[in-house]
Amino acid sequence: MGKSDPYKAKQFDLSGLHGISDKTLEMHFKLYEGYVTETNRLTEKIWGYLKDGQVDQEEMPAYSELTRRLGFEYNGVVLHEYYFGNMTKSGSPDPEKRSAFYKAAEAGFGSYDIWKADFVSIGKMRGVGWAVCLQDPKRGRLTNHWVTLHEIGGVAGFDPVLVMDVWEHAFLLDYKPAERPKYIEAFFANIDWKAVENRLKLAETSGQEASRRARAS
Ligand SMILES: [Fe+2]
Repeated sequence: MGKSDPYKAKQFDLSGLHGISDKTLEMHFKLYEGYVTETNRLTEKIWGYLKDGQVDQEEMPAYSELTRRLGFEYNGVVLHEYYFGNMTKSGSPDPEKRSAFYKAAEAGFGSYDIWKADFVSIGKMRGVGWAVCLQDPKRGRLTNHWVTLHEIGGVAGFDPVLVMDVWEHAFLLDYKPAERPKYIEAFFANIDWKAVENRLKLAETSGQEASRRARAS
């Protein structure tokens, strides 16, 4: 972990979503801010061990635990930002057929419907975590993944394109625990495909850069 440089929580204007209440969002923003606070606190504490230039043997157990927890908290921050960032009150359940995302889903899965069946099914998996659609920046290929907690199951270097929180806190004020499919349907109705598309473009750009670098070396 690097030197302490406090992370600032971002603000999201999402009130009026379809099927996800403002009450849920307010509670969820507070939880997100908690991850930011904890990330800053852990960073500060880890820096306390590091600043003399070494981690002594007797410091190692505490340092290790703080560092492991940092992965959980920091990913909690980042995944929530992707999640809030890919929703809008003027969302729509599916992207336009001529959109780059629709085409990328077809290229990776044979059809958009199969991509969606995979993503939704991952969202219904039992357990605490996330459904994420990632793009391999080198090949441009989309793949869907289950992330346990916040930090287990992603692929290093792949770019998040669409992120769905399926921790129960994301929907418990609006739906029963067994009604996760209804929440997933509500989530889809709120997807900001333009935001998703922008991530895809960025990923494509970094992929092009990666292939340019590969050719140059
Ligand atoms: Fe969450």
